Amino acid sequence: MKKPSVISFLITLLLAAAVCIHGGEPVNDKDGNPVKLGELYFIQPVKTKTNNGGGLVPATTSILPPYCPLGITQTLLPYQPGLPVNFTLPDAREETFVQTSLAVNIEFNSNIWACNEFSKFWKVNETSSASEEPLILIGGTPQKPNSWFKIEIAGEGAEANTYKLTTSTGTVGTKPGVWFGAPQLVVPNDAAKPLLIKFKKVEDVTTATTSTTRVEKLGLRMFPF
Ligand SMILES: *[C@@H]1O[C@H](CO)[C@@H](O)[C@H](O)[C@H]1NC(C)=O
Ligand SMILES: *[C@@H]1O[C@H](CO)[C@@H](O)[C@H](O)[C@H]1NC(C)=O
Repeated sequence: MKKPSVISFLITLLLAAAVCIHGGEPVNDKDGNPVKLGELYFIQPVKTKTNNGGGLVPATTSILPPYCPLGITQTLLPYQPGLPVNFTLPDAREETFVQTSLAVNIEFNSNIWACNEFSKFWKVNETSSASEEPLILIGGTPQKPNSWFKIEIAGEGAEANTYKLTTSTGTVGTKPGVWFGAPQLVVPNDAAKPLLIKFKKVEDVTTATTSTTRVEKLGLRMFPF
């Protein structure tokens, strides 16, 4: 009687391990297509009564120097798509698609970069003290756990393909930043208000270039406006 239960226990364990390795469900873009690793997407905050839906851009988190590393701010310009990002895996594993509960790196894709000594990878400010809401910053290191983000489902039915980002310290939300209160990405103490996002595929390189150029034209070197 003992043997089968041990075996079924082992099988359950193996299945659980397989699920962990492969993450959860496929993550879809706003058109319902699976989000691919290594391709460019805009992360678009969902437009609500309190959120204008403006795109995400790197921006300084301080009104005084040093300005680097930059944080990530949602622009107050509602039609600005933000800077595209590239999702990659921290290890060399061969996967094609982004899945929920799978640790990914997020990297801004831009030819112009204000803080050359910092990478374009997102990370959680690892030096924050426990009482603070850690900022999401630029300058991550792919292999370090503070540069790992997981994408989790945040809506079903009519709100399908809506997601939130989680980190090892908590769910990503926003707080009013230093520039006209534009929402700045943080890991808030109150996880009840995650930043809801959708993914929009950058259809062709021209779109990416145009949007990047537009961002640059707007004077975005370090400031969101
Ligand atoms: C995304 O990053 C990977 C790894 O650095 C790179 O091989 C790939 O070309 C990038 N994709 C784009 C569209 O830049
Ligand atoms: C990271 O958190 C520490 C501790 O609060 C803070 O002193 C530092 O300024 C933060 N870094 C940035 C770039 O905001």
